[in-house]
Amino acid sequence: MVHIIDGKKLAGEIKERISSELKELTSRCDSIPTIGTIIIGNNRESELFLRLRERASSEVGIKSEHYRFFEDVEEREVIEVIEELNSSEEIHGIIIQQPIPEHISLHRLLSRLSPDKDVEGITPRNLGRLMIGEEDIIPCTPLAVLRILEHANVQLKGANAVIVNHSPIVGKPLAILLLNRNATVSVCHVFTRNLKEYTRKADILITATGVPRLIGREHIKEGSVVIDVGISKTEKGICGDVAFDEVKEIVSAITPVPGGVGPVTIASALENLLKLYKRKVGEEK
Ligand SMILES: NC(=O)c1ccc[n+]([C@@H]2O[C@H](COP(=O)([O-])OP(=O)(O)OC[C@H]3O[C@@H](n4cnc5c(N)ncnc54)[C@H](OP(=O)(O)O)[C@@H]3O)[C@@H](O)[C@H]2O)c1
Repeated sequence: MVHIIDGKKLAGEIKERISSELKELTSRCDSIPTIGTIIIGNNRESELFLRLRERASSEVGIKSEHYRFFEDVEEREVIEVIEELNSSEEIHGIIIQQPIPEHISLHRLLSRLSPDKDVEGITPRNLGRLMIGEEDIIPCTPLAVLRILEHANVQLKGANAVIVNHSPIVGKPLAILLLNRNATVSVCHVFTRNLKEYTRKADILITATGVPRLIGREHIKEGSVVIDVGISKTEKGICGDVAFDEVKEIVSAITPVPGGVGPVTIASALENLLKLYKRKVGEEK
């Protein structure tokens, strides 16, 4: 029987744990855990994601503050605000909402963001620590994938894992996390010749391309675990990269879209904030 992994339920469990830890902590500390989000320009999808994260944050007792800029803002002005937030006593974590306009360098913004407030785990220091196996604040989507694999009791050591995505926020850090756990990892992308050749060998397939139905039954090894990170808006609604109905027939476990990785990614951001907050109030190193 295929295990359809319920991301909403798992996210609910993670949020419950965060909420009870925060309740206990804030009863002793004189501060409210707060995430400051930098938002540049108007992007409808970002706004939807922001609302979902804000709702989840308030459910667990985390406050959200937004710092909005016009689309044509100068990079220097955004950096000034990042530096103010870095030193603010009221802000415990900072997120730079993506996408950002092309004239602004995400790398430069991230290099100015304090790693001690890096909720998404994507500053150079946090990514570097991941690389040397000193995992600290882990990028939210890769952390969500790990949580899902743990929840589904998937053995990573020695498994053939194939990731279809090589972005700095999903595929690259996820590849390192899986290598750190002794999986054998292949990373595929748009220039990969004959994608099927790789995906068919995967005990664990993780796909995050944003191309609807890119992965069909013919890409899948029977009995494998499929994690679909992709999100696309189509005429039929939101869907992932995987042709879910045909693939679910032959795998052992699969995440649906929506209701799979998405809610767990949001919960992972809150989990990271909890860690940063605990450090700030001296409850954890
Ligand atoms: N569920 C969640 O919580 C969550 C979180 C983050 C992102 N997402 C979703 O995940 C997807 C990827 O996000 P991202 O920010 O990583 O985007 P991205 O930077 O555009 O990455 C897309 C990746 O897919 C590869 N790709 C695209 N088309 C392909 C094809 N036909 N065959 C093989 N590889 C292909 C790209 O390769 P090239 O770079 O070589 O083109 C790239 O590595 C999006 O749908 C996004 O909405 C979901």
